Amino acid sequence: MRRAGRIVALALDLGNRMAKPGLRICDLDAAIEELILGADAIPAFKGYRGYPATICASVDEEVVHGIPDSRRLKEGGILGLDVGAVLDGYYADAAVTIPIGRISAQATRLMDAAREALDAAILEARPGRRVSDISRAIQTTVEKKGFSVVRTYTGHGIGSRLHEDPQIPNYVDGQTASRDEALACGATLAIEPMVNEGTWRTKVLSNGWTVVTADGRLSSHFEHTVAVQPHGPEVLTVL
Ligand code: MF3
Ligand code: CO
Repeated sequence: MRRAGRIVALALDLGNRMAKPGLRICDLDAAIEELILGADAIPAFKGYRGYPATICASVDEEVVHGIPDSRRLKEGGILGLDVGAVLDGYYADAAVTIPIGRISAQATRLMDAAREALDAAILEARPGRRVSDISRAIQTTVEKKGFSVVRTYTGHGIGSRLHEDPQIPNYVDGQTASRDEALACGATLAIEPMVNEGTWRTKVLSNGWTVVTADGRLSSHFEHTVAVQPHGPEVLTVL
């Protein structure tokens, strides 16, 4: 998983360098697919429940699962880039939100909130902490800044499959608390706050994949694959 994570980190780094106004999203998809295959890994999303591409590319009000096509990135937009890779049967999954050229102060604040929520959540990935400690760290960080956390999608366990137990909600309530789980040493988790400027509610476009904010306002997504080690969290999707 560490080696798969490094490949995902390289892919996101390539995305960070390529994502400029005018770039076609399908060209970014092709470049990242080539990087993953060149590292002897396999794109984890392509073919998953029929998903047609290597990356998920979610622009502005798109929350997650945006499908690459010939659209071009626009100055002032934000791009959620989500990448998964499988190496020797082990998965890694991570995402970043990338500013396209100069973006508004509000978009910057939104991205910062989502990134800080992920950082705070990772600190909770220790033996003996509970899933709800991760969820609460995300919700508290985001809501303190006046933004909302998406409730319709969650983080997840990951390992020899892309999605494993436990589900990792980005908020806490009575329902989620009832199936709260203590984190075991060696657990591997994909933690992925999705943060909206306005309402947390979402809808899915008619292509069956692209998730957008219900109010059309901005959304930002960051994700890392993290191992719960004896001494604390180890982020696997880094260089
Ligand atoms: N990071 C997302 C997830 O964990 C990406 C999945 S896209 C899919 O669900 F196409 F694979 F579904
Ligand atoms: Co994920």
